[in-house]
Amino acid sequence: MHTTSQLQQRIHQLREQINHHNQLYYVLDSPQISDAEYDQLLRELETLEGEHPELVTPDSPTQRVGAEPVAAFGVVEHPVPLLSLAKAFEADEMKAWHTRISRLLEGEPMDFVCELKMDGLAVSLTYIDGLLVTGATRGDGYRGENITQNLKTVRSIPIRLPADAPRQLEVRGEVFLSKPAFAKINKERAEADQPLFANPRNAAAGSVRQLDPRITARRPLDIFIYGLGYAEGQPIPKTHWETMQYLKSLGFKINPLNALFHDIPSVEAFCQRWVEKREKLPYDADGVVVKVNSLDQQNRLGIVGRDPRWAIAFKFPATQATTRLLDIGINVGRTGSINPYAILEPVSVGGAVVRRSTLHNEEDIHRKDIRIGDTVIVQRAGEVVPEVVAPVVGKRTGEEKVFEMPSHCPTCGSGLVKTEGEVMARCPNAACPAQVLELLKHFVSRGAMDIDGMGEKLATALFNAGLVKDMADIYYLDMEKLLGLDRMGEKVTSHVLDSIEKSKSRPFTRIIFALGIRYIGSETADLLARAFQNIEKLAEASLDDLLAVPGIGPKAAESVTTFFAQETNRRIIEKLQTAGVKLEAEAKEIREMPLSGQEFVVTGKLEAMSRTEAEAKVREMGGGVGSSVTKKTTYLVVGADPGSKLDKAKALGTNILSEEEFLRLIST
Ligand code: IVH
Repeated sequence: MHTTSQLQQRIHQLREQINHHNQLYYVLDSPQISDAEYDQLLRELETLEGEHPELVTPDSPTQRVGAEPVAAFGVVEHPVPLLSLAKAFEADEMKAWHTRISRLLEGEPMDFVCELKMDGLAVSLTYIDGLLVTGATRGDGYRGENITQNLKTVRSIPIRLPADAPRQLEVRGEVFLSKPAFAKINKERAEADQPLFANPRNAAAGSVRQLDPRITARRPLDIFIYGLGYAEGQPIPKTHWETMQYLKSLGFKINPLNALFHDIPSVEAFCQRWVEKREKLPYDADGVVVKVNSLDQQNRLGIVGRDPRWAIAFKFPATQATTRLLDIGINVGRTGSINPYAILEPVSVGGAVVRRSTLHNEEDIHRKDIRIGDTVIVQRAGEVVPEVVAPVVGKRTGEEKVFEMPSHCPTCGSGLVKTEGEVMARCPNAACPAQVLELLKHFVSRGAMDIDGMGEKLATALFNAGLVKDMADIYYLDMEKLLGLDRMGEKVTSHVLDSIEKSKSRPFTRIIFALGIRYIGSETADLLARAFQNIEKLAEASLDDLLAVPGIGPKAAESVTTFFAQETNRRIIEKLQTAGVKLEAEAKEIREMPLSGQEFVVTGKLEAMSRTEAEAKVREMGGGVGSSVTKKTTYLVVGADPGSKLDKAKALGTNILSEEEFLRLIST
């Protein structure tokens, strides 16, 4: 394996890298790598040092956390050091931690407090005779920066405590910015041509460490207190949980989501729940801190190096990473929108490899100052599509190229148009092959005509082979044409033909949606289907007729008239009609439908179908769909992990349906 000198070299290299990134992160508030990449460096170093303790030096970054405070602020010595936390990246590591400490406590029962690990900035607050006298950053844990003036601007930090507070008290907590506050700050910075903050944590750190407290005061910083450093003059409780309740009674802000558990499976369930639901939080949390509740047990477990044995940070999978922006591609949408997208050096984020990501539009690219060749921060959060957040300006070499939007459609060459007040450039040519293909994919998709067996691939193949030039051509396909395509056997082909046949009798609302008229989504399609009942009436509707439909606005109305005024579109409708596609609502669709007059709200994750599909189903059966539970709600359909809607429904006495009950209801 490694020779000693190779090993020493690697350790040296890791230390240099880690020190460099520490400086960028803690002192300059401008990290150049993601937390996950940093953790990986630190872990590698920890492992190597663990295997070769003789190579550990007192100045190794594993021996201290953080970096020197900047001299511009005064220095504060922490009488009780601010510790760091050992990390667990997998459930198994947490189990191993539990096993270790159980052994040390010889099997004594333990309680645990779970707290969200806030992704902000650690601070220490010292009160003497009830007055806030010092606010400090954590710094290296022993010495931090004096940022009292800045912290006094944080409204959730009490400046004065009640009279019965301990004579001297030091508490610790995390200062953070909410996601909406972060978005607002970045918007203002973009408008003022200032570089953007990559995430709320950097924005919070940048705000707290402002030399001018007036700037800090304009940032809506917030705090959660999670620990007590020391208290004099008052007995303190015997557990962490009670300590937090006590601090709350003194006026400190404690996270209401903290929870007390009596066993590890419950702790694991809490962690797993927040892995899935973290996106719903109004602030960034990067993990869960699990703490042994009893302070006596904490004392007996003690500290190893800088980490207390009595606590562990269970880390969520990272949602940001850095990579290179190799190029910017252009995609033409089904309504002609010109969508730039990032072509990235593949990078793993939040458990998936990201190669491409949306760039929204030209304005957004320039607002964020993203250049081709830049190292960029990529974010992938929950179900949301990956996004390029910001460039890492410090990594520029000067070779980067500013993106220029093409003036012509990359597919058909038509000159692009940009309407006043719109951010998207568009290809105005409705016959543009790229648009037609996108439209075809939309037409056959599940929410539209739902032609089983004909996905994007087959639609593309048919289009490329010239067998389908518009959506109506789908209904003129036959065995022979389909068998001529690559990898189309008889069985698949007859299944596809079967699906095409079935799709002819889809509800009218689906057809309207499938036509891909701009601004007509599945909900507006539904309104149109009810109001006009067949394609002739819809095609003949005037702007006023359309505007008279509740829920149809001027943009949608105009888009419908424009659509039916076009000769190509009229021809497509004729072809659909000739092929036998049903272009009218059935009586039951309009009046006596099974769910008429009933209003549904769907919450939580369903197993058998997506929420959108469930809602489409309800509408098809004549029911209404709401987004929140009110007195008008007939049923609340509850999937896995329902949120506050379930509580509301219980409070209102609304009928609650499990997914199974819902499926039974819609299959009758
Ligand atoms: S406890 C020994 N609790 O995570 C206990 N830390 O490495 C040390 N953090 O920068 C900290 N939320 O600021 C604790 N609920 C929480 C926390 C939390 C965030 C941060 C802390 C520090 C890092 C610990």
